[in-house]
Order: sequence, then structure tokens, then C-alpha cells
Amino acid sequence: MTDAEVDALGEETPLLEGLRTARAIRRLKTDSVPERLIRKVCEAGTFGPSGGNRQPWIFVAVTEPERRAFIAKRYRKRFHAYIHPAIEKAESDPNFPPVKVRNMKAALHLADHLHEAPVLLFVAGWTRGGSPQSQALFPCIQNILLACRAVGLGASLTTVHLADGPEIDAYLGLSEDTPSCALLPIGWPKGRHGRPPRASVDEKLYFERVPEGQIGRRRG
Ligand SMILES: Cc1cc2nc3c(=O)[nH]c(=O)nc-3n(C[C@H](O)[C@H](O)[C@H](O)COP(=O)(O)O)c2cc1C
Repeated sequence: MTDAEVDALGEETPLLEGLRTARAIRRLKTDSVPERLIRKVCEAGTFGPSGGNRQPWIFVAVTEPERRAFIAKRYRKRFHAYIHPAIEKAESDPNFPPVKVRNMKAALHLADHLHEAPVLLFVAGWTRGGSPQSQALFPCIQNILLACRAVGLGASLTTVHLADGPEIDAYLGLSEDTPSCALLPIGWPKGRHGRPPRASVDEKLYFERVPEGQIGRRRG
């Protein structure tokens, strides 16, 4: 892929159609992703909002096989411990929505193949008052996911690595002042982008005030 081809990629993708079809892509080809394209999706992240425009984000793209394996080994262990009880519980409940079981199995597939994802992109950030500026990092992360959708890359948002956060951050050269917040495994998709399953906005949107008894406990 030439620099000009990378630069042109995704520039014509309609914003709203792109974001409606940016489902989590967890089955990835092993083909490499040009560094220029990694730069391009990270640049999209830098256009996110942040308090006082502090732009606290730092990106670390891990592409070397042995370094991906180091991270994947830890992710897989943590994910298995979390997901197997959840899948067993879901499968024993006849009312559990099959779409959610499929989502769990896709997440398990990602965990088992994480080392094969050509790019493990970490988004980290400067802390403020000792805590990570995750409120500023998540819009940035979402921009990266949308940029991946626009250029045709598959990606998903994960945080399981945080269970081994200090060890992985040290491995990435991140300090206590700049902990990682999310890991986006990125690569060319095996499947296609498409609409993720979502409840209708009509079940979520209220104008002016939520009617009595409509949702949970009132705040006053
Ligand atoms: C804060 C956050 C953390 C997440 N962590 C993980 C994770 O560690 N592993 C994973 O497979 N999915 C994780 N997910 C869920 C997926 O990224 C995805 O959003 C979800 O499965 C729905 O997929 P869909 O958009 O294709 O419907 C996380 C989502 C959020 C918002």
C-alpha cells in the first residue's frame, strides 16, 4: 500500500453510516497494517475533546510478535477466568439472549487469538490528581475505533489487561503517571463491518423529564 493510498483511505466514508456500522471486530487477519495507517487512526484520536484541551493521550502500538505474545498471554489468562463462568451461567439459562452468548464467544475468540492481531494499540494518558483521565481518553478511543471503521480496519475496545496493568505498563515503558486505559486489537477484518445489535433509541430517549416509574430509582 502506497502512502498516497493510505492517505486516501476512509476519507469518503460517511460519518453517521460509519459509526452505525462500527461493531466490535474480533476476528482479524494476521496481515500487517502499515505504520502510516496506525498513525492515521491515532491522529483521529487526537481530535477528541479533553478538559482544558490538555490532550492527555499517549499511544503505544505493539507490533512485534514476541511483544504481542507477552501481552496476549496475560490477557488470555485473565479473560478465561472471567468468561468461562459467565458463559456457563448464560448457557444454563434458557432465557439468556443468544446474541449475548455470541458476543461472549467472539470475545473469547479474540482472547485466544490476541497474539495474532497485527497491532495491539494501547491508549494511555497522563493522570490528574493521581487518577487516570479516562473521561478524556474514552472519546479519543472512540475516535480511533471510528477511524478504523472508516479505513476498513477491524478493531474493538478492551480493558481486561488492566488486571495486569502495572506489569504491562512497565513493559510498554509507561510510568505510573501515564497508565494505560484501553487496549485496541487492530487488524484487517475476517468478516465485515455491520450494525451491532442495539435497542431502539426510542427506548432510551426522553424529552425534558423521565416519566414516573419509567426507569430505576429517581434522583429527586
Ligand atoms: C469500557 C469497556 C471495556 C470493555 N472491555 C472489553 C474487554 O476487555 N474485552 C472484550 O472482548 N470486550 C470488551 N468490551 C466490550 C466490547 O468492546 C464491545 O463494545 C461489546 O462487546 C459490544 O460489541 P458490539 O459493539 O459489536 O455490539 C468493553 C467495552 C467497554 C465499553
